[in-house]
Amino acid sequence: MNSIEKVKAGDAHLAVAVAGTGAALLLVHGFPLDRTMWRQLEGTDGWMRIAPDLRGAGQSDVPASGYTMTRYADDLVAVLDALGARRAVCCGLSMGGYILFELWRRYPERIRALILCDTKSEADTAEGKRGRDELAATARDAGVGAVAERLVPKLVGRTTRAENPALVETVRTMVQRSPVAGVVGALQAMRDRADATPRLVEVAVPTLIVVGAEDELTPPAVVRPMVDRIPGARYAEIPGAGHLAPLERPGPFNSAVAEFLSILE
Ligand code: MLT
Repeated sequence: MNSIEKVKAGDAHLAVAVAGTGAALLLVHGFPLDRTMWRQLEGTDGWMRIAPDLRGAGQSDVPASGYTMTRYADDLVAVLDALGARRAVCCGLSMGGYILFELWRRYPERIRALILCDTKSEADTAEGKRGRDELAATARDAGVGAVAERLVPKLVGRTTRAENPALVETVRTMVQRSPVAGVVGALQAMRDRADATPRLVEVAVPTLIVVGAEDELTPPAVVRPMVDRIPGARYAEIPGAGHLAPLERPGPFNSAVAEFLSILE
């Protein structure tokens, strides 16, 4: 059972699901998704699980402009403040991970530990930036349904595509209900994000890096180098999962997270 809080963050109100009691575990969703991707709201007992809809996603407000990694990170601080959490274990999937790198750069004192799922530290290449602009044009001209057509097959792994069509439909529905302005804003923010790689060596909190073995967007070969760069980082690969490992294989994902959380003081 979780409650939905409304949190004011700058010029937007954010919808935030909160479940359980204990130390704070912040769950930051990926693109173009919303907080309902986190099965962990139900599965991570002993923690206060906090899952916001980012601005422009889910039930949060959808400003017409102003989407940046800085803004998203400030929004997370507003969420933690509203819930009285001075520090949190911060878990982000893909774009959620990009936002956590920005949160760490600006507010390292708010982060107790990091869980980086199916994400990478590098900025977009020139070709990647062009791809963002093209996808934003598709969203504006053809709607989010066209974005879903393009992205959904890449978001879930081949095992999920073959064995769990209902989950594929859940993801498709989640993408299709994303507001166009939020999708376009997120694409601009990701396009313009900084490269976090050079500073990974400075990360001084316990860190777990998790990736689906079948992730086609940020495959293990892309994700793994972060393990060598972040001092003491741990690594877990989730078999049979693609880019949405926490949603596709919540059992093995939760086990990896529980083992990591058990080492925290
Ligand atoms: C995500 O899942 O958040 C996206 O794959 C991130 C991206 O497009 O770089």
